Amino acid sequence: MEIVRTIAAARAAVARARGGGARIGFVPTMGYLHEGHLSLVDRARERTGYVVVSIYVNPLQFGPQEDFAAYPRDLERDAELARGRGADLIFAPSDAEMYPRREPATQVVPTRLADRLCGAFRPGHFQGVLTVVTKLCHIVQPDMAVFGQKDYQQATLIRRMVADLDWPLEIVVAPIVREPDGLAMSSRNAYLSPEQRRRATALSCGLGRAEAAFAAGERDAARLCALVLDTLAAEPDVRVQYVELVHPDELEPVAVARRGDVLALAAFVGQTRLIDNAILGA
Ligand code: PAF
Repeated sequence: MEIVRTIAAARAAVARARGGGARIGFVPTMGYLHEGHLSLVDRARERTGYVVVSIYVNPLQFGPQEDFAAYPRDLERDAELARGRGADLIFAPSDAEMYPRREPATQVVPTRLADRLCGAFRPGHFQGVLTVVTKLCHIVQPDMAVFGQKDYQQATLIRRMVADLDWPLEIVVAPIVREPDGLAMSSRNAYLSPEQRRRATALSCGLGRAEAAFAAGERDAARLCALVLDTLAAEPDVRVQYVELVHPDELEPVAVARRGDVLALAAFVGQTRLIDNAILGA
């Protein structure tokens, strides 16, 4: 496995692999890899001959009050983990390499899908995500890219961008990987104290209660959301940002639940903002 820091070196490595006949798989990440990221590497590995993992904490997608500076970083550890799962190339650029003129004058601006769910609370976040994903894909030129279902809105916006702009790129969305007690894996789980870590299981627990109610025939969106809200309300250090049942592609709230609709939530556990979701009937 090779580790490169520059766009030119990444392009050269990918060109060599493509010249040898490989299809290129791509897993964009912000590093501090966990089993969730590594399952994306597995997906890319299964379906392509050369797997690129990018590790870049993208300043454009963080708001001024958010955790850009504190975001955990450990390239050496990430490289070992990615190597162990068969990644071929790590692309870990600096800010100067990615944004030599600092804030780029040209960015990808998503429309209505970005105003909902997390986007309503993180203005500019998805513009930053789509801009960096576009840049990274122009650099790596993958045949397929893998994203995690945990960031459901992100994956939906990326799928839509690729369709809207006719990119010859296959997008694969891989299921959420959870800890044994149900907590969705996230690099931000590292911020939680042991007590907060215990309380954070309320997120998946609430979703699980709603999924069970849906399986038992409950179709009222407000009642399904209330099951999640009640579970979260029982934990003193958990503050809900939103719990919504939405259409899987349009992300609009629905009143009557149907199989495939997405129950999505964001909540603060202490100071740490966590997200999770469940696809009903999946
Ligand atoms: O999901 C993430 O880790 C990031 O949003 C991504 C897609 C790597 C863009 O910075």
